[in-house]
Amino acid sequence: MRKVIEIKNLEYTYPDGTKALNGVDLEVFEGESVALIGPNGAGKSTLLLHLNGILNGNGSVKILGRDLMGKNIREIRNKVGIVFQDPDNQLFSPTVFDDVAFGPINMGCSQKMVKEKVKDALSQIKMEEYKDRCPHHLSFGEKKRISLATVLSMNPEILALDEPTSNLDPVSRRNMIRLFHELKLTKVIATHDMEMVSEVCKRAILLSQGRIVADGKVSEILTNEELLKSHGLDPPPLVRFLKQMGYKDISLSLKEMIGRKEFIR
Ligand SMILES: Nc1ncnc2c1ncn2[C@@H]1O[C@H](COP(=O)(O)OP(=O)(O)OP(=O)(O)O)[C@@H](O)[C@H]1O
Ligand SMILES: [Mg+2]
Repeated sequence: MRKVIEIKNLEYTYPDGTKALNGVDLEVFEGESVALIGPNGAGKSTLLLHLNGILNGNGSVKILGRDLMGKNIREIRNKVGIVFQDPDNQLFSPTVFDDVAFGPINMGCSQKMVKEKVKDALSQIKMEEYKDRCPHHLSFGEKKRISLATVLSMNPEILALDEPTSNLDPVSRRNMIRLFHELKLTKVIATHDMEMVSEVCKRAILLSQGRIVADGKVSEILTNEELLKSHGLDPPPLVRFLKQMGYKDISLSLKEMIGRKEFIR
């Protein structure tokens, strides 16, 4: 399988002296859906911002086999779609259409192609009727969904999503999860939504104090209550439920459920 993200010994310190990443090594393969979990302040968002050169720490970051530096950055930015934790950092145009069209226009698409890409991206998140609305006036959850459309319109090869389900109503969240299943591209998802992780991802990376403290199967990490608790996290409700029901090997039950259609829908 092709390695699409290769990070070695990445360290990052914010200008005020806060050390956010403390030697991160990470490899992600094409088509994987990887959850990035960890307590507040662990460095999840900081790590995502390194995937297309918005932040630039010490260490090496290779995306799609190329060093993230110099001339490569522009090209890599077209291939890595980052959805920020705060949608107000993503949306800046007078209309939703303009925000979603921004990427394709920058990539030099024709007017017709831009229109098609915007329509397509908005329909993927089921928000076509929002195209003439002002992003600034949308609710937080609506903004989160439009933020996703602004990167989907660029047909990225890698999606880096920061808290994609936060503040979504149950139906929108469910639609989002369904969309993640449909999108076969590589996904790295920073989140506190453990239930979503158990449905969408097979692999989880636990980040704590700027370091990766666990990297493994979701079925193993999300059932390791001791590990999660020692880093300020909790197993998802499903795992707690299975435990209450007396299931002995929860990791096995979860493994069996992950990927099953009836479990997803
Ligand atoms: N712009 C900034 N300036 C200074 N420090 C920052 C800045 N942004 C983040 N930090 C600090 O860097 C560390 C990592 O923050 P980051 O936002 O990456 O954490 P996170 O894992 O995404 O947390 P959360 O779950 O709350 O989103 C924290 O200690 C945070 O306070
Ligand atoms: Mg964050």
